[in-house]
Amino acid sequence: MSSLKVNAPEVLKESIVVPAKSLMGPGPSNSAQRVLNAMSLPTLGHLHPEFQKIMDDVKAGIQYVFQTKNALTLALSATGHAAMEAVMVNMLEKGDIVLIANNGIWGERAGDMATRAGANVKMIQKEAGGSFSLEEIKKGLEAEKPKLLFVTHGESSTGVVQNLEGLGKLCHR
Ligand SMILES: Cc1ncc(COP(=O)(O)O)c(C=O)c1O
Repeated sequence: MSSLKVNAPEVLKESIVVPAKSLMGPGPSNSAQRVLNAMSLPTLGHLHPEFQKIMDDVKAGIQYVFQTKNALTLALSATGHAAMEAVMVNMLEKGDIVLIANNGIWGERAGDMATRAGANVKMIQKEAGGSFSLEEIKKGLEAEKPKLLFVTHGESSTGVVQNLEGLGKLCHR
């Protein structure tokens, strides 16, 4: 007789069933075969030099995609929401002013996360489907002088892409 208090569930004796589905939402989408193949490669430890080289290669790739030389460009193996939460809890301290350009669910949720992190949340607001002009963001920055500006590049709830041209320079100023 087993001394374990909880018996092995019957489901552990079965193979998992993962049917091929067409994923068409704004979130998870079907993976390319090349990606699925890469996921079946051997597991590396996070301190293996080969793993670190892959991390460096990915970093160079996303610097190219986002056209930035910022050394703090990194990939998080997590959902978009997790990355947003990582930004809020790592960059904000209680009472810091954060300015959120809110034109959909990402701005809404960024506001919730920043509030939970104890920040003083200010918003510039657009109806769903709209995007911000550089002038509107400039006005918000001048009025609130925030420590952090949150802008959604791809607002997947409406399909709107925010033009980011000139925003970096504006923030530095
Ligand atoms: C509109 C929209 N876009 C994208 C996502 C995907 O977000 P995540 O990467 O955090 O799963 C979601 C998930 O809630 C969503 O509602």
